[in-house]
Amino acid sequence: MPKVTIIVNGIVQTHEVEGRTLLVQFLREHCGLKGTHVGCDTSQCGCCTVHLDGRSIKSCTCLASMADGHEVRTIEGVGSVEALHPLQRAFNEQHALQCGYCTPGMVMQGIDILRRERATDDATIRHELEGNLCRCTGYQNIVDAIASCAGRRAQAQGHTPESSGEA
Ligand code: FES
Ligand code: FES
Repeated sequence: MPKVTIIVNGIVQTHEVEGRTLLVQFLREHCGLKGTHVGCDTSQCGCCTVHLDGRSIKSCTCLASMADGHEVRTIEGVGSVEALHPLQRAFNEQHALQCGYCTPGMVMQGIDILRRERATDDATIRHELEGNLCRCTGYQNIVDAIASCAGRRAQAQGHTPESSGEA
């Protein structure tokens, strides 16, 4: 079987995999990183969202071999219980999860939304989250978590609606 090497959360992971092995299988079964979930296997739910070279992708629709030589970040590489990522903290504060099954994918997608500075208003955030399904929360608290995180960052950078002319 061919070897695939992927830098996962900063660690080089080389494993022999079948050509049909999906990235999500590589992460869960070969790297033992079970935080990336499988909800549908058909690219609809977003539970399997990870970052490939800094951009969110659904790891159930990417062959492991397609990520060979690239960098992947999973939820395990985002924060820790002792030092949560600001978006994880916002999820906690806004009560943005219930069963938590969708949460790793939501957080990975949310970080990508924040990276692209798309968190400008609820409608935009909802649009950006269309590929991530949650059957528990009704979405509003997830949207609030991402918006609050974006708001804090804007404040830290000294941007206010007044200063940016957005009143
Ligand atoms: Fe990948 Fe649902 S498991 S989108
Ligand atoms: Fe249960 Fe989203 S919190 S599916």
